[in-house]
Amino acid sequence: MTEPAFIHDSANEAHSNKAKGPRVRPAPVIAVDGPAASGKGTIARALARRFDLPHMDTGMLYRAVALNLWRWGGDPAHEFEALKACDVAAVDPEDPELRSEVVGGIASRVSAYPAVRAALLDRQREFAAQPGGAVLDGRDIGTVICPDADAKLYVTASAEVRAERRLGELAARGMKVHLDDVLIDIKARDERDAGREVAPLAKAEDADLLDTSAMSVEEAVAAAILLVEKRLAKI
Ligand code: DC
Repeated sequence: MTEPAFIHDSANEAHSNKAKGPRVRPAPVIAVDGPAASGKGTIARALARRFDLPHMDTGMLYRAVALNLWRWGGDPAHEFEALKACDVAAVDPEDPELRSEVVGGIASRVSAYPAVRAALLDRQREFAAQPGGAVLDGRDIGTVICPDADAKLYVTASAEVRAERRLGELAARGMKVHLDDVLIDIKARDERDAGREVAPLAKAEDADLLDTSAMSVEEAVAAAILLVEKRLAKI
């Protein structure tokens, strides 16, 4: 299956263009998990740049399924309809709706279906298995997709801090929403993502915990790089 463009970022291009010389260490797989708006995406992209690795934002796969379903008028309450929406080849990776709260909420609902998770599994595992290594971020990367990852981070922050951050992101995109509504949404998503039966959001036992509640973006990125460097020094 052709890889949809929306799961790659610029680190990918840098990666594919680099000279293929002998590597001192095997190319690493880095797993980054955490709840909504924890900053895991920013951290995963920074890690991809720092270690020159391709990056997959696995949440975008679930968001693409959700957007498909929403546009077709499908019902997220029906697993079969959600499964039909798993062919995401036609989803425009630049569609601004992919990052909307509505689509995020539907993604959280459809991602609880075993059939939907199974339909997206191979694509994520293949991405992680490429010879040059990879960074993947999501909810179940360290626990299910890449249990043998060389470095695992579980990025979190308090629900209040995450709601503030999400509010800032939405405001930057010109969306006017209330903090209370964002907080309610974040808590509902936490509950769904962590409470589902299949591949719930959870910290892998061997993951490093990074609580970014009191950190700036720069501090969080620096802390993440340090933790990963320590792990990679051991491989
Ligand atoms: O990271 P995000 O907010 O873009 O993810 C949207 C939803 O997708 C999230 O609420 C749960 C689901 N998801 C998942 O179940 N497993 C992943 N690996 C990534 C995302």
